[in-house]
Amino acid sequence: MNKTDLIQKLEQLKGISDEERMFLIDLINTRKKYGLVWEDKTENVEEELRDKIPVLKEVEEKAIINDTNSPNHTIIEGENLYALTSLISTHQNLIDVIYIDPPYNTGSKEFKYNDRSVDKDDSYRHSKWLSFMHKRLQIAKRLLSDKGVIFISIDDNERAQLRLLCDEIFGEENCYGEMAWLTRTGSMDNVTNFSKDHESILIYGKTLGRLNGIQRTFSRYKNPDNDPRGAWIADNLSASKPGGNTLYAVVDPGTGNEFWPPKGRYWPYNPETMMKKIDERRILFPKTAEGSPLIKRFKSEAKFQTLPISSWIISETTPESKRKNNTIYATYNTSGTKELQEILGDKVFEHPKPTALIMQLLEQSSDANSTILDFFAGSGTTLHATMKLNNKDGGNRKCILITNNENGICENVTYKRNKNVICGYTNNKGEFVNGLIANNLKYYKAILVHQECSR
Ligand SMILES: C[S@@+](CC[C@H](N)C(=O)[O-])C[C@H]1O[C@@H](n2cnc3c(N)ncnc32)[C@H](O)[C@@H]1O
Repeated sequence: MNKTDLIQKLEQLKGISDEERMFLIDLINTRKKYGLVWEDKTENVEEELRDKIPVLKEVEEKAIINDTNSPNHTIIEGENLYALTSLISTHQNLIDVIYIDPPYNTGSKEFKYNDRSVDKDDSYRHSKWLSFMHKRLQIAKRLLSDKGVIFISIDDNERAQLRLLCDEIFGEENCYGEMAWLTRTGSMDNVTNFSKDHESILIYGKTLGRLNGIQRTFSRYKNPDNDPRGAWIADNLSASKPGGNTLYAVVDPGTGNEFWPPKGRYWPYNPETMMKKIDERRILFPKTAEGSPLIKRFKSEAKFQTLPISSWIISETTPESKRKNNTIYATYNTSGTKELQEILGDKVFEHPKPTALIMQLLEQSSDANSTILDFFAGSGTTLHATMKLNNKDGGNRKCILITNNENGICENVTYKRNKNVICGYTNNKGEFVNGLIANNLKYYKAILVHQECSR
């Protein structure tokens, strides 16, 4: 449908007022051409924020203070829209990493909107979820530092919608991409004969920067000839594409042997540059006229000291011989449940994420002093992973968790789990596991107060 034709037809249309005509023309002109459209569903908790303000009230008896030099972590119990709103005044632009694992909107009662579960047959189910996420992600963006990164776990129910929503909020140009995490071994769906065995993790930055990548080991680099430039590897010298004068015979100045590039290939340099490389003793000639010259590549001159992290996340059980060093190996999601059971005794929470997964995401996105936020914290895996990572690399990262207290989860799972991790606990085998005592923890409740009470 052509917009200009439509406007012309509207201008000639009889039986409507000028005001109505202008309204319709405006509607055509402002109509979104591309992107996500949904019906914004008002959320009660947002309405509440119109005349009340959220504040954080400390529950002092839950504080764990071990050492003033250790990182101070925070658990905030309550509605995350309240908690996030209150963090704007203290943490705007100060959060380095956000990891969230929101309700996936599976239709199986895990996503509540205005205190009611959203079913699969609710015709507004996507709109409700998008309204819910939109508000929270907009605040998340304000909290992120300029180099901040957000990771969002999601599955097929809302993956496509979330991607478009995040493109709108964070900007398509700030999307690192999506990771695919193989979450289970078994096939589940015999109805469609299609088994969804992975979850996605969307990654956006406030601006697009660089993840930390994997430190290159340079283990193949050696220095058998004591080259003062340090360790090197002998690498292929030829190039796949021509570039000026790059098809000629290189002459070994020692033997006079001539070498043409392998069939269908070229030298990467013109003759003058090649001569310079030979003078600098960077070209390694074969002893005989057979074979092809190689180039010395020095560790000290490597453009990147790190390897990019792969978007595949595969099982920790992958044998060593099949592993690549730029891949995140995380256990299937059942191992998150086992881990939590070890700490709390019973199965008290559905589908906690494995700490190994979160630790590796944090390794990719944080430095030793980063502040990390999870505002759908559930069982509190992100704080556990932060403390484990600090313990591993001597970091001083701080973590803020926000989660509601549905069925007493925040007190009995989120807090208790992390308290045990800090103070030590007896596991299912009756063994005492030492605490990660170099951590402090404070517990707050996000509550609403009338404007005048806050003064
Ligand atoms: C999928 S779970 C997160 C699990 C977590 N990643 C873990 O490893 O344990 C999502 C959690 O967010 C909580 N939640 C959902 N909506 C919330 C809201 N509006 N405010 C605060 N917490 C919320 C749920 O109660 C649930 O505990």
